[in-house]
Amino acid sequence: MAAKWAPESWTKAEARQLPDYPDAAALDAATTQLGSFPPLVFAGEARNLTEALADVAAGKAFLLQGGDCAESFAEFHPNNIRDTFRVILQMAVVLTYASKLPVVKLGRMAGQFAKPRSAPTETIDGVELPSYRGDNVNDIAFTPEARTPDPQRMLRAYSQSAATLNLLRAFAQGGYANLHQVHRWTHDFMGRSPWAKKYAETADRIGDALEFMHACGINADSVPQLSATQFYTSHEALLLPYEQALTRQDSLTGDWYDTSAHFLWIGDRTRFTGSAHVEFLRGIGNPIGVKCGPSLEPDELLRMLDTLNPARVPGRMTLITRYGHEKIEAGLPKLVRAVLREGHPVVWSCDPMHGNVIKAANGYKTRPFERILAEVRGFFAVHRAEGSIAGGIHAEMTGQNVTECTGGAVAVTEQSLADRYHTHCDPRLNASQSLELAFLLAEMLNREMAERKKAAA
Ligand code: TRP
Ligand code: MN
Repeated sequence: MAAKWAPESWTKAEARQLPDYPDAAALDAATTQLGSFPPLVFAGEARNLTEALADVAAGKAFLLQGGDCAESFAEFHPNNIRDTFRVILQMAVVLTYASKLPVVKLGRMAGQFAKPRSAPTETIDGVELPSYRGDNVNDIAFTPEARTPDPQRMLRAYSQSAATLNLLRAFAQGGYANLHQVHRWTHDFMGRSPWAKKYAETADRIGDALEFMHACGINADSVPQLSATQFYTSHEALLLPYEQALTRQDSLTGDWYDTSAHFLWIGDRTRFTGSAHVEFLRGIGNPIGVKCGPSLEPDELLRMLDTLNPARVPGRMTLITRYGHEKIEAGLPKLVRAVLREGHPVVWSCDPMHGNVIKAANGYKTRPFERILAEVRGFFAVHRAEGSIAGGIHAEMTGQNVTECTGGAVAVTEQSLADRYHTHCDPRLNASQSLELAFLLAEMLNREMAERKKAAA
């Protein structure tokens, strides 16, 4: 029997990657206030997402998770939210069409404000200061004041998350997500892109399908599913004082939910045995993700799955693999086999971003588009070979026209990285690269679905 869980039981375990707040009373005041604020999501929504993810685990749906590496206070603007949301929907339409499966749409949005760091401090010109840990901890500017962890930032992160989520809900349900409209954007966007020809056939076929349905009387007026979508939110559950303050007991079931987002994940640096983050996540009812990198051994993964999902609820666990394009085909199979052998129902999702970071000659941190694609290809190949389900994709992307990842059809070169390099953290795919990734994924999914049909026949 596992020990009793409470929202604060993590405080007795080993916590890595948490800030040292200099003023304990100020921290207490901030979390007490947060604890009295309304939940951002309702437990029933988290349960709906678990069910949708259970379909992904069973090969009956596909998962698309995407958004900023880190949200920031400075970039808080309705247009940024709108543009990222729009690109995720455009990707979702392409993926739905290719897979002929519903796509679960999950934003890295409305709460993605805390970052794990490789070192606790940063030294520039002999000056050593605490590392930047995301906008709900400290400020990115390199001054002692800016880098001092400030608990009041959690209140600002909460309010930005609430406003972001409100706009996302309005967009998802209020008509902005209309399928015809989303496709029209893709169509217009491609009309302006030099690379449009490559993917025109897929886009045309989606347009044809919509027109055919329209002629049959299936349109937004007759079928409400065409004009709205479900959009869920997620972030890394890193800043535990914040997450604890938003953890509430569901009045319907009596279970605890972290109401800061629908889905929370645990990072590669905080998923070790005995971790405070694992302890926290094990007690909440939300669907949860675990980032799995090359250092994770099958035994440790299985132990973690037994801790986090002892009842083996399908849809509860999503394993987000981030190996790097060169390592995935050698490293992933042993995890897949272990999970299949033990019969844990999980969603396998591919994060082709974090294992493929390089430093360009001019010092910019970047990710070459070809390597991202190569990792996705490797991911599908491994799951096909092992007889498991390649369930989804996890991307760091933005709707803005940034130049942070190199490559893609509108080739961003190492020299042009400096043009519009805006990220607070890792390099993101821009709108054009994201959509291109969706089209290339569509080709892989086409093949995948044909194979599955063959295998079932
Ligand atoms: N409601 C369906 C879904 O969410 C169809 C749909 C409506 C849709 N608008 C969308 C799909 C935008 C993708 C993107 O899947
Ligand atoms: Mn990142």
